[in-house]
Amino acid sequence: MEISERLKKLPTQFFSALVKKVNNAVAEGRDIINLGQGNPDQPTPPHIVKALQTAAEDPKTHKYSPFSGLIELKHAASEYYKKQYGVDIDPEKEVAILFGTKTGLVELPMCLLNEGDLMLLPDPGYPDYLSGVVLAGAQFKTFPLLAENQFLPDYNAISLEDKEAAKLMYLNYPNNPTGATADLKFFEETVTFAKKHRISVVHDFAYGAIGFDGKKPTSLLEAEGAKDIGIEMYTLSKTYNMAGWRVGFAVGNQNIIESINLIQDHLYCSLFPAIQLAAAAALTGDQSCVEELVSLYEKRRNTFINAIRQIGWNAQAPKGSFFAWLPVPKGFTSEEFADYLLEKADVAVAPGNGFGQYGEGYIRVGLLVDESRLLEAVDRIRKLNLF
Ligand SMILES: Cc1ncc(COP(=O)(O)O)c(C=O)c1O
Repeated sequence: MEISERLKKLPTQFFSALVKKVNNAVAEGRDIINLGQGNPDQPTPPHIVKALQTAAEDPKTHKYSPFSGLIELKHAASEYYKKQYGVDIDPEKEVAILFGTKTGLVELPMCLLNEGDLMLLPDPGYPDYLSGVVLAGAQFKTFPLLAENQFLPDYNAISLEDKEAAKLMYLNYPNNPTGATADLKFFEETVTFAKKHRISVVHDFAYGAIGFDGKKPTSLLEAEGAKDIGIEMYTLSKTYNMAGWRVGFAVGNQNIIESINLIQDHLYCSLFPAIQLAAAAALTGDQSCVEELVSLYEKRRNTFINAIRQIGWNAQAPKGSFFAWLPVPKGFTSEEFADYLLEKADVAVAPGNGFGQYGEGYIRVGLLVDESRLLEAVDRIRKLNLF
């Protein structure tokens, strides 16, 4: 039986080959230090697990959820945005509950774009953005995120033709894979740009909680007028180590939120209510677990960046997220270098070109193992005498 032409067009998972190589190496009994993936290594805080247990014991949670999700979680999202960012969100009209933000990001182009419409995507960027474009039958152009611009887009460098044609744009700060952050001024410029060219903006705020050096990442919605042009997607996966729970939400522009709820009415019957109640408990409960998590990542970042600088590998320290974005030494492509580290040092990293052509020349390291393993990885790399 043949699959549809549309499914045939879906991008092949760039990283599946890498995952296979790493798994093979592990199966050979090698002690691989895997810095290649983005799966948080810490457990979900116990009070959130407890909230799930309690909720799951209540038969009310065993029924279908309302189609667009529980109002308790929408209220919690609204309360969270008020507390964290000083932003007013109408829980009834400005929140959509998502099966993790991956789902939201992939389904959104189908909500807003017609066949052939143009979408703007960051390069390098999270690979799943492309899947949504293909499923919508839309087209995309990329804009580069360059080191000399602190990995922020240069809106002036986007051609007038593309600015006029584009209907939708994705942004993501703190950024995967570069670890860059964006400030309020940047988001204000984004609102002006989007209004001028009538482009809807989705800010993927997956690493919204993870900012270093005492700087809390800025929400797009803090910029005046942001709700006129876009939404933000927030996941609980990273903030509370809940990647396996599959829960997130979108907040902002009422029409876009309505369109998400409409498509989801046809696709799902929202999430398991007990998960929604536990997610609400996470958002409204004590946030000291998040502070502890951010300081854990910051310590790892400091340890790792200091260690690589000591071996002569010069790299910028990420300002947020749990990724470090490192230039590859001369003479290697990203992929060659990633393969070399796996073969010669038993260290797995993600080659930058998997995130787009402007990722070439970099590798991405996930700071998702403890400090002693990070130091061990750097020591193994030191022994290769590359720097
Ligand atoms: C940039 C970015 N956006 C979105 C996601 C998706 O997160 P989730 O589907 O767990 O909410 C990820 C996950 O790694 C990510 O790195």
